[in-house]
Amino acid sequence: MPHATGRGRSALAALGASALALAASVLTWASPAAADEAAGGRLDWGVKESFRSYITGPIAEGEVNTGDGASTVGGAYRFHSATGEYDPDAGTASLSYTGWVHFWGHDGELDVTFANPSIEYSGSSGTLYVYVNGTRTDMAALSGPDIGALSGTVSVQGASATLTAGGAQAFAGYYEEGQALDPVGFTADVTAPEPSSEAAETPTEDPTEDAGVSGAILDWGVRASWREYVSGDIAAGNWEATGGARDGGAVFRFTEGSGEAAGGDYSLAFTGTVAFTGTDVDLAIADPTVTAEGGRGVLSAEVGGERVDLVEFEAELGERDGLLIAEAVPTVLTEAAVEVFGGYYQAGDEMDPLTVAVPLGPDAELPALPDLGDEPEPSPESPSPSAIDADEASTESGPGALAWIAPAAALALLAATATVIAIRRRGKAARSEPAESRDEPATAGGPEPNTPEEPSTEGETTKEQ
Ligand code: HEM
Repeated sequence: MPHATGRGRSALAALGASALALAASVLTWASPAAADEAAGGRLDWGVKESFRSYITGPIAEGEVNTGDGASTVGGAYRFHSATGEYDPDAGTASLSYTGWVHFWGHDGELDVTFANPSIEYSGSSGTLYVYVNGTRTDMAALSGPDIGALSGTVSVQGASATLTAGGAQAFAGYYEEGQALDPVGFTADVTAPEPSSEAAETPTEDPTEDAGVSGAILDWGVRASWREYVSGDIAAGNWEATGGARDGGAVFRFTEGSGEAAGGDYSLAFTGTVAFTGTDVDLAIADPTVTAEGGRGVLSAEVGGERVDLVEFEAELGERDGLLIAEAVPTVLTEAAVEVFGGYYQAGDEMDPLTVAVPLGPDAELPALPDLGDEPEPSPESPSPSAIDADEASTESGPGALAWIAPAAALALLAATATVIAIRRRGKAARSEPAESRDEPATAGGPEPNTPEEPSTEGETTKEQ
């Protein structure tokens, strides 16, 4: 008898299951238009301030590295190149970001990599997932402002984060479930899916094809510790990349490079300005050029109204994948540039590596730049202040932000901000870096955890001074 009842039950269960499956497929079929697609955007999260101090302090005597395009901005880690979906009707988002941060201390007893974070957000709450040493882990419960998009950019800033039970394991039991972590801010540039699969024609850049070259790019981050100084507690500032320059987090890209490249020698002029501002900081690096003869090169730029040689390097351009390219070339500061950085660095000091790439034809694919997406526009109904996004300071332009700098500089900053907004608007329409060019998607799995013995060359290190 129990047998018969069991069979009856399983038959019923089977019927129920197929009914459910049918209902599900109908629901899927009848579901409304697909959600908006995300391409580009950033996630800022400092993990936990006390944890960062502990790692680099006298107890753990360790260090923090970032890599795969992640950078340190104002103490927080910035991950990039959002992909995923945002459903404006449901108020939900599912977004993944790229980059890793590696914590190492106690001579290697502590060795944790947080990588490729992702967000599931619905209404005003959600979950932050992180690959912890390669395993996808739900790290924190988020609670913040309602998710919403303004001018095509989804933004949630200052969401509070509390540790989940799963996330607590990443900290070896030193924190408990419910522990407050640093707040999380994230953005994503979203577009409604195209009804037709016909891709929009992207205009090719300036096809002047004489003896010279055009459409080249220069990637250079200036110096990681400089960016940390500007965005950190001391200078409490930020930077803006405008007029052809783009912010890739750990690197700035200057574009529209043109000039000559022949037989290993090259002379290329790029456009764009990266302006650093903060307490006692007002440095704009504009329209750089790179010139090299016999493999010895110099990068100069317009600084304070004059052209200054900033860094020297040794590199010839090699041909690869339709590009003339010199990649991740080490650079050192020139004598002339010492005063540009207020005398904090000496001639010969290592600065960030640079990459020059010259496309040889219209189909050549330039190296991908981490895509931070557009700056979130401040929303009038929810100002969503962010303690961790240094970039926000410029768009806030309140008296608090401006009181730090001299009135003339304040005016310049206001003018620059206006220009930035105008340029960003145009930039959004003509975004030339599609999401496909980014590194492997986070959903494909965790990254290879890097070992402290072999720090990745692309990584950046933060140590306590
Ligand atoms: C040799 C092994 C370790 C030793 C001797 C050690 C020692 C300590 C000590 C003494 C503190 C207290 C610091 C303070 O109160 O200021 C601490 C805090 C902490 N440790 Fe470790 N630890 C070890 C391994 C680890 C590992 C493997 C992790 C995993 C990530 C970890 C995560 C933490 C965290 C999260 C804190 C709290 C930091 C804070 O927010 O103040 N520790 N550890």
